[in-house]
Amino acid sequence: MSGPIIEVEGLAKEYRRPVRVEGPLGGLRSLLSPRHVTKRAVDGVSFALAEGELVGYLGPNGAGKSTTIKMLTGILRPTAGLVRVAGLVPWRERERHARNIGVVFGQRTQLWWDLPLRDSLELIGRLYGVERARHRATTARFTELLGLGPFLDTPVRQLSLGQRMRGDLAAAMLPEPRILFLDEPTIGLDVVAKERIRDFIATRNRRDGTTIVLTTHDLDDVERLCRRIVLIDDGRVLYDGDVARLKERYAPHRRLVVQLADGAGWHGVRVPGVARDDEADDAPGQVTLRFDPAGTRVADVITAVLARHEVTDLSLVEPGLEGVVHRIYAARGAA
Ligand SMILES: Nc1ncnc2c1ncn2[C@@H]1O[C@H](COP(=O)(O)OP(=O)(O)OP(=O)(O)O)[C@@H](O)[C@H]1O
Ligand SMILES: [Mg+2]
Repeated sequence: MSGPIIEVEGLAKEYRRPVRVEGPLGGLRSLLSPRHVTKRAVDGVSFALAEGELVGYLGPNGAGKSTTIKMLTGILRPTAGLVRVAGLVPWRERERHARNIGVVFGQRTQLWWDLPLRDSLELIGRLYGVERARHRATTARFTELLGLGPFLDTPVRQLSLGQRMRGDLAAAMLPEPRILFLDEPTIGLDVVAKERIRDFIATRNRRDGTTIVLTTHDLDDVERLCRRIVLIDDGRVLYDGDVARLKERYAPHRRLVVQLADGAGWHGVRVPGVARDDEADDAPGQVTLRFDPAGTRVADVITAVLARHEVTDLSLVEPGLEGVVHRIYAARGAA
């Protein structure tokens, strides 16, 4: 086995921003002795990715996600730390690095504003020196997968956000890069467009083995696509690991929602470790129980409920990522 395809160690980025001095003559004083505030946007981030991984890089607004992505893509030079992507230092070997990676910034297009999408895609093929037949085949495949057909001849400036984003994704993947960086590729899209983009991302990863770093605020993206997440806040890594393990750690409980038959009362269940969930917002005739599946078997809970009650419906609720992430941020704020 070769080493990781992405290695990040002690990565940091400080932004220096001049501050204006307030008051009369403030502008002049700023000019004469400029003062700066320093913001440490990324503050000692380390992680490693194996080739073929798809990792969610998550965190609240201002956490330092985009800044990290910019350093990994070679747009920004770090203040400190080490980055190697496919053996290259991104900001030192920018051109060679650019051939290994594809990038989509959801907030900004990389396409030529005035050109029809078709021409933009064509140009990318030439810029990257992709062999013509191969480029034509890949373009046709991506056009089909992303549904670009109806707007291939539309200038990029006239595309809707969802259309443009699909165009951007196609453009990033046309040169068939080994690594793809996606910074909020589903921002502002409707559910259908999101699904299409998620499908495309999943397929590039599974079928082509593309290594993908994905930032998003949409936790459905994460549930759908990522096994592993790196969670950052205030420039530091809070968690790096399996989504499933994160849920176990922060929200170990399962819930069983019981719908009682009309007029049936609740008599409780006597199973150790099972309690009525006092956070649940139960409708009349509904009872929510919570238990830790590590110590209590789901089947035992269900059997105990059915033994003493007349029930019309039972549903088991797994903890969602949303609640988990919410809990982590809240705990962090309180610390
Ligand atoms: N060019 C810049 N100059 C000064 N400060 C900046 C600059 N870019 C970002 N910052 C600051 O660095 C911090 C991290 O910003 P960054 O854009 O990396 O966050 P993010 O995690 O991508 O947030 P979001 O989820 O809102 O996109 C923020 O406090 C931001 O204000
Ligand atoms: Mg960002």
